[in-house]
Amino acid sequence: MRRMIISGNWKMYKTLEETITFFEEFSAWEKDFSHKNQLLIFPPNLYTITALEMTRENDIDIGVQNIYFKDFGAYTGEISSPMLTSIGCKYALVGHSERRHIFHETDEEINLKILALIENRKHIVFCIGEKESQRDEGLTEQVLDTQLAIGLQDVHEKDMQHVVIAYEPVWAIGTGKTATPEIAQDAHAFIRKWLSTHFNSSVANKTRILYGGSVKAANCKELLEKQDIDGALIGGASLKIKDYIEIIKISEEVAQKKDQ
Ligand code: 13P
Repeated sequence: MRRMIISGNWKMYKTLEETITFFEEFSAWEKDFSHKNQLLIFPPNLYTITALEMTRENDIDIGVQNIYFKDFGAYTGEISSPMLTSIGCKYALVGHSERRHIFHETDEEINLKILALIENRKHIVFCIGEKESQRDEGLTEQVLDTQLAIGLQDVHEKDMQHVVIAYEPVWAIGTGKTATPEIAQDAHAFIRKWLSTHFNSSVANKTRILYGGSVKAANCKELLEKQDIDGALIGGASLKIKDYIEIIKISEEVAQKKDQ
């Protein structure tokens, strides 16, 4: 069975002090977990080292929210994959819809980022998802197909063990409008079928596909119970330790059931 991932994308929220408090509180709660699922937090890039140092004894991974695809150079304001290696960071988020739409990141740039991260032996959470207008026009599968085809171009079958896909319909991000478990499951099943066609059935069976978009404690059970949903990428609800812990606990019960 695929190990579920309960991940949190903090976006541009929290001060350093709030980050420290979160991980102190997490540490105190951790004894209550079964550790069935993988936990992963993407704090603002500025706090990566602090988060890594604070969680050294904890069963939680830390990643950055974005990287540039070049290794070094005159790229003011950017950070690179080799820099992640130098601080012991193994995870990066790539292609988040806010990067795509606010910062105009293209599928081609996302592909270069994924290739750079693979070259540097990092684990990637690759985000894809359609806008509301695209869904309304019946273009969801076409959009996902393009994002997957360009984003994963030149990625080899063996490298897919480093790639996690996050399906985040843009209309569900930060809007409180969660996809119904059925809508999410349909998109996840399409993505898994795509992986089977473009790689093979083993890659399709092993790749974890997370759902993101207004996930909270009140709706996560029904989403996580779906066959092709292997975890969540949580924005707002991952900022409050109590909410994040509640979701972790629910996810552990779901994982227990899925294993049976
Ligand atoms: P919300 O959970 O706040 O909708 O954000 C989802 C998201 O963008 C996670 O990457």
